[in-house]
Amino acid sequence: MIERRALRDEVFRLLRHNPVVALVGARQVGKTTLAREIARREPRAVTFLERDVPQLGSRIPSTTLRRFWSMLTHYHGQTWNSSELARAFGVSDHAVRGYLDLLESTYVVRLLAAWHENLGKRQVKAPKVYLADSGVLHALLNLTTRQDLMLHPKVGASWEGFALDEVVAHLGARPEECFYWRTHTGAELDLLVVRGERRRGFEFKHTSAPQATRSMHIALEDLGLASVDVIHAGRDSFPLAPRIRAVALSRMLDDIDPGV
Ligand SMILES: Nc1ncnc2c1ncn2[C@@H]1O[C@H](COP(=O)(O)OP(=O)(O)OP(=O)(O)O)[C@@H](O)[C@H]1O
Ligand SMILES: [Mg+2]
Repeated sequence: MIERRALRDEVFRLLRHNPVVALVGARQVGKTTLAREIARREPRAVTFLERDVPQLGSRIPSTTLRRFWSMLTHYHGQTWNSSELARAFGVSDHAVRGYLDLLESTYVVRLLAAWHENLGKRQVKAPKVYLADSGVLHALLNLTTRQDLMLHPKVGASWEGFALDEVVAHLGARPEECFYWRTHTGAELDLLVVRGERRRGFEFKHTSAPQATRSMHIALEDLGLASVDVIHAGRDSFPLAPRIRAVALSRMLDDIDPGV
């Protein structure tokens, strides 16, 4: 391996002053290799926490925020619970909510609001938490290969977060149009997109053989959905029940009408 120390130091120096540095050069000279080496030594998370966050005026220590961020990986795709995290951190509910708000306002974390309406059923009101970038999620979980990911208990949640982002982007849905829904008796919908009168439901299943469930039928009826699309990891799209379809994520562009 040819040592590229001078180049590497130069890139680090430039990165301290600029958020973006390009490596350009002839083909096959080692640009990608160098970029990977740099990314290994200075993960984006470190510069973000130690440089960007303090510049935003936050006084939360970067080590605290780093721990909090790592802990959030376990909540990816789950309902936010201030008191549980506050206990784990030994700080107040208010303080952990502050950490969460900071990471949300810097686009590190995405919150999906809970939908609730007068149905005569108790519904969950806390938002769901997602790390905004599945690459960052995998890095924090120390998953470096596809195999690591496939064997990890968070694979389903990772899939859900990734597919959810893709669907939201495809629909061009704004954050205030996106919700999840869950009742205390167990019915739930991963994503509800509300635009005017039209309500569409989406479920995310890391499988190639999704099925219609009772929970989907309840969501259809209770929320008056136009449709439920079950986004899955297989190859084909096919109907599952009236107004319920299985849609392969890879076919989303063709099979899901973005609507207005
Ligand atoms: N420092 C190095 N010492 C020895 N071999 C290297 C070094 N850096 C890269 N290589 C080897 O050179 C080849 C090209 O490397 P790399 O893919 O990083 O180049 P690249 O500039 O990104 O190429 P491309 O222009 O095709 O994107 C690879 O086989 C890689 O293993
Ligand atoms: Mg390259």
